[in-house]
Amino acid sequence: MSPYDSEPADRLVTAAADGEDQAVEAALRPKLLDEFIGQERVREQLSLVLQAARRRGSAPDHVLLSGPPGLGKTTLSMIIAAELGAPIRITSGPAIQHAGDLAAILSSLAEGEVLFLDEIHRMSRPAEEMLYMAMEDFRVDVIVGKGPGATAIPLELPPFTLVGATTRAGLLPPPLRDRFGFTGHMEFYAPAELQRVVHRSAALLDVEIDPAGAAEIAGRSRGTPRIANRLLRRVRDYAQVRHDGVVTAEIAGRALEVYEVDARGLDRLDRAVLGALLRLFGGGPVGLSTLAVAVGEEAETVEEVAEPFLVREGLLARTPRGRIATAAAWQHLGLVPPDRAGRGAVPAQPELFAPGGPRSPEN
Ligand SMILES: Nc1ncnc2c1ncn2[C@@H]1O[C@H](COP(=O)(O)OP(=O)(O)OP(=O)(O)O)[C@@H](O)[C@H]1O
Ligand SMILES: [Mg+2]
Repeated sequence: MSPYDSEPADRLVTAAADGEDQAVEAALRPKLLDEFIGQERVREQLSLVLQAARRRGSAPDHVLLSGPPGLGKTTLSMIIAAELGAPIRITSGPAIQHAGDLAAILSSLAEGEVLFLDEIHRMSRPAEEMLYMAMEDFRVDVIVGKGPGATAIPLELPPFTLVGATTRAGLLPPPLRDRFGFTGHMEFYAPAELQRVVHRSAALLDVEIDPAGAAEIAGRSRGTPRIANRLLRRVRDYAQVRHDGVVTAEIAGRALEVYEVDARGLDRLDRAVLGALLRLFGGGPVGLSTLAVAVGEEAETVEEVAEPFLVREGLLARTPRGRIATAAAWQHLGLVPPDRAGRGAVPAQPELFAPGGPRSPEN
């Protein structure tokens, strides 16, 4: 299980793909390396690998793409095939239950074909072991029969390129990781890069958008193109229903206010967690389970869904003594930290427990 699997599907800022994403993503995917925005380092490295292979007229080394969801791993794998002018076969770790499933796929590959193995960390152990040999020697042993009479029939494979994608590179067994000639680590995108993603997608979706409007969406997209594209679609709805369809910063801001995605990309749950930490516990430290009860969520939801982004944004820190808020958290919610001297036992501000207690913009 990846930590992303537990995200509620209806969350607008989840990086996991929902049904609507899958339907439109194909249309929004850049087709060639030159159209792929950002990830400069991976792009340059990959471009060298591909050019060299093309020049030699042979299949390039196997490629591993690792990084959080929605950053363009699937997109890049399709670009690899397109740049090589090679066909691509798409499958995933969970789809390969038995080594035999993998043998069937491998033995039907054409010479130079790209095999895209998504979620490669979720493959079964026997399939994984078969893959080692296939990657290294372009050969598989097909076992026929059972027990002492079983024989291994070696099967030659045509040269192919495996492109593996994973959100959890750390879970890959080292022998598998070592068999990739190149590993591209995808990073979260800078706002300026996401702004270009939004512009590009808006053009493809026939949405008129000005630079400030694109910047507004980019800033709320949590470094993730998939989220940027999704927010763009929600902003487009708002612009078309409530206005003339043109997306400006003001329209984007108002639209995303309706969807409760704030200027930094936090949603309702993120703000509830942060708000409780600040208002009820004076910024912490407070234990995870206490914090979860305070927001009426499971500890797991708080830990796996809300916290990773809050930590990444430098708004919350996990310490051995509990969760604590950073100065940036107080600032983001427009609250003033209590006086250090007056900060005693938790809760620091008991009156906040009173029904109808002090209100702030977040209530
Ligand atoms: N560099 C980029 N430039 C433009 N669009 C991008 C870029 N990276 C990703 N996208 C867009 O973001 C969406 C998600 O990308 P993609 O499906 O490749 O992510 P992923 O890393 O495979 O995610 P997952 O881990 O969930 O499989 C696609 O619609 C794609 O068009
Ligand atoms: Mg993918």
